[in-house]
Amino acid sequence: MSNTVIIGAQWGDEGKGKIVDMLSAQSQVIVRFHGGNNAGHTIKVKGEETILHLIPSGILHDKVLCLIGSGVVLDPGVFLEELDSLAARGIDVSPGRLGLSKKTHLIMPYHKSLDSARELKRAGNKIGTTGRGIGPCYEDKAARVGLRAGDLTNPDLVREKVRRVLLEKNVLLRDLYKFDPLDVEAVCEELLQLAPRLVPYLTNVEFCIEEAVRKGESVLFEGAQGVHLDIDHGTYPFVTSSNTVAGNAATGSGIAPSLLDRIVGIAKAYSTRVGSGPLPTELLDDTGSYLRAKGCEFGATTGRPRRCGWLDAVVLRESVRLNGLTDIALTKLDVLQNLPALQICVAYEYEGRRIDRLPQEEGALGKVVPIYEELPGFEEDISACASFDELPKEARIYVRRIEELIGVKISIISVGSDRRQTIVR
Ligand code: GDP
Ligand code: IMO
Ligand code: MG
Repeated sequence: MSNTVIIGAQWGDEGKGKIVDMLSAQSQVIVRFHGGNNAGHTIKVKGEETILHLIPSGILHDKVLCLIGSGVVLDPGVFLEELDSLAARGIDVSPGRLGLSKKTHLIMPYHKSLDSARELKRAGNKIGTTGRGIGPCYEDKAARVGLRAGDLTNPDLVREKVRRVLLEKNVLLRDLYKFDPLDVEAVCEELLQLAPRLVPYLTNVEFCIEEAVRKGESVLFEGAQGVHLDIDHGTYPFVTSSNTVAGNAATGSGIAPSLLDRIVGIAKAYSTRVGSGPLPTELLDDTGSYLRAKGCEFGATTGRPRRCGWLDAVVLRESVRLNGLTDIALTKLDVLQNLPALQICVAYEYEGRRIDRLPQEEGALGKVVPIYEELPGFEEDISACASFDELPKEARIYVRRIEELIGVKISIISVGSDRRQTIVR
């Protein structure tokens, strides 16, 4: 028995879905603990692709229990659409296989309106959010005016909360942002209509996890986004609105941190980022375009092209420190094929000095100049390699050098999007 947390070690889209799916074969319970449908987690099994935004990436394994914890923000309509599309493919998504915490906050229509309105107002200074209402929903949670999944059993409470909250939101929408105000009755009816389908999923998530641990089962905690999008420790203000670090696996699912045994950081063999904010190793040249094309670097949620660059060991070292990573899964190594040389950023130059940690002042990461170390590239197609020894020498040198630079073992290497294209060391 061991409880494992999976987190993205960069800026999201590292391949968490693939690794969670793979590790789900050895787990009995999978828990999403933060974020919402800003996430897009891709799984590929025998050529068939599944993209999940809310439902844990263990759902393709029949025997696991999937749970959505209190730290998640859930758009009820998106959740039901995702259930329906999985059910249409014959996947069992009945209550009993899937549970939703009563404490999970709900994304409401005014959250989505405010997300769009604020981004429009920011004009040249956009965060580049996914527009899914994530930030405004977490704001209401902190302001103690949010609606929670458990409220769906109490229509009077829903009406009272919506009435109160719209008093304020409609002033913002109408007067400040020149958006259409929302009607209290319409918002309540839309939500309460979905309640009969959602209520059967309400579960005491904490109790389910406690039970599983007591029985000696293994629980997998599925993070979303990436460490450097964390609301506290990311490249603020170009971040998401939740804590993406492993510590939040405990808070966001309602268990003790002492239950977490293994913390796996998922790192892409290069860097990508979608949306605004600093990306020190960004490549705006042909190499960047090559990575984007070969890595199919287009967002699984919004379809936006992802910005691409070399691997940044400074960023990864900070992820190791912040999360206490026990090991790393390195994904998309196959994408580096045919590049004549590989660069790894080992430190930065900042204000005339060499630094090997992230600067903390706002905007500073946008001003650093990466210091690179060059390694030889490889030409061979590695997508069918099944063991570390089968990889070309140059690919092995690259993997070992990353381990040296960040001080953590790379225990899993992914060489293709399919479940089977994975090397376990
Ligand atoms: P997540 O948000 O971290 O789950 O990652 P996404 O699903 O948004 O993006 C990762 C993309 O890379 C998906 O299209 C995956 O199918 C794909 N992928 C994952 N691992 C590999 C790999 O090792 N090689 C290649 N070529 N693609 C991969
Ligand atoms: P997964 O789980 C990559 C980014 C957005 C934007 C910023 C804030 O698939 O790795 P938000 O809508 O959260 O307020 O947007 O965060 N972002 C992601 N980038 N992968 C994700 O999720 C992301 N979720 C949010 O692009 O820059
Ligand atoms: Mg993604």
